[in-house]
Amino acid sequence: MSKPFAQELKQLRRQHQLILNAVGEGVYGLDLDGNVTFINPAAAKMIDWPVTELVGKSMHTVLHHSHVDGSPYPREDCPIYAALKDGSTHRVISDVFWRKDGTSFPVEYISTPMKDEDGTLIGAVVTFQDISQRRWAEKILEQANEDLEQKIQERTQKLQRANQQLRELSEMRSRFITMVCHEFRNPLNNITLSVSSLKRYDTHLSLAEKAGYLSSINANVERMTQIIDDILVIGRIEAKVLEVNRTKVDVVAFCRRLLEEGEFIRQSDPIKLICPSHSIITELDERLLYSILGNLLANAIRYTHASGAITLSLRKWKQILIIKVQDEGIGIALKDRKYLFEPFHRGCNTSNIPGTGLGLSIVKQFVDLLGGNIHVSSRINKGTTFTVRLPMFNNSKNNISASTS
Ligand SMILES: Nc1ncnc2c1ncn2[C@@H]1O[C@H](COP(=O)(O)OP(=O)(O)OP(=O)(O)O)[C@@H](O)[C@H]1O
Ligand SMILES: [Mg+2]
Repeated sequence: MSKPFAQELKQLRRQHQLILNAVGEGVYGLDLDGNVTFINPAAAKMIDWPVTELVGKSMHTVLHHSHVDGSPYPREDCPIYAALKDGSTHRVISDVFWRKDGTSFPVEYISTPMKDEDGTLIGAVVTFQDISQRRWAEKILEQANEDLEQKIQERTQKLQRANQQLRELSEMRSRFITMVCHEFRNPLNNITLSVSSLKRYDTHLSLAEKAGYLSSINANVERMTQIIDDILVIGRIEAKVLEVNRTKVDVVAFCRRLLEEGEFIRQSDPIKLICPSHSIITELDERLLYSILGNLLANAIRYTHASGAITLSLRKWKQILIIKVQDEGIGIALKDRKYLFEPFHRGCNTSNIPGTGLGLSIVKQFVDLLGGNIHVSSRINKGTTFTVRLPMFNNSKNNISASTS
């Protein structure tokens, strides 16, 4: 070899060495047996081996002996060695290489066959990259995506709930307007009529007739006051300012007194009170109990023809008071059952029977306040039975509201 040529070759080698030393990716060469012919410092550093110890070693045994799960990786299956056999480039984007200390790291690598000037295969060059950082970034991104998706789902659910509430609110508003139109127009018309009769026929009317008009005005005002009171009660329940005030109550005596009140006296067929014992002593809120029973009985009377029977039965089971109000009235259509306890909802078969649709909504809220539940069974034109179950004492063990139906 002439001197200048040898010098040129030396310079070229040095240049190659410098390039190999400078690149951040791991680069190593293999001979046809798969042994290391050269390796750059970046590759040696990544697998934690001294460069000098690696040259001549089987690289598969050094860094590619096992799969990620630790199971052996046979050399025949290795894509790096495939390049030595089939003479084509093999690229793997997800695999692991092993360090000297037995730990592994994720890699992406390319195994490129090397050929001499005659095209004869003389080995392969492998370049690889530690992709731990990329994996980590991918994981973070994936997590961020999942978090985002979760947040979107939560927001969507919140929006759906808010939408549903808005829809319910708007339905309730329109039911409220319908009720006000119906329930206030009639008494107001009656009052207007009575007032104009009183004015027009003032001198012709007897005292009894005048008293009749005045009591009609009074009754209509009372009816409207009752409606406003009910609306206020609903408002107070919703604002959660209603307190339960439990006192000792004999429910049997309480019901007897209730049935003697004018509102619940039926001339045709008096309401029957059925109870196996003379008294049932409880600790209940009298106000709430009065409203529950009063509304259920008023409904039974209102939605039952004069000839139909109505019974109020009481019994206790363990420490639960079971109240049943049973009638032989018009019944409740199946499609109304779902909305029965919602404010201002009225059944489809009420036609011109007056009502605001507030009573049962108050009943339900009061039963809940007392930790009980309410259940209805009904058949059109056969009758309806409301069953209320209330814990008799303020003992949380007896709270049965979870099973409200
Ligand atoms: N015993 C019953 N028989 C048949 N239908 C009933 C009975 N009780 C309730 N309903 C139906 O349930 C609806 C709601 O009852 P709720 O007591 O809440 O209101 P209302 O009776 O219409 O008016 P109010 O607020 O004056 O009581 C009634 O309009 C009626 O359609
Ligand atoms: Mg009612």
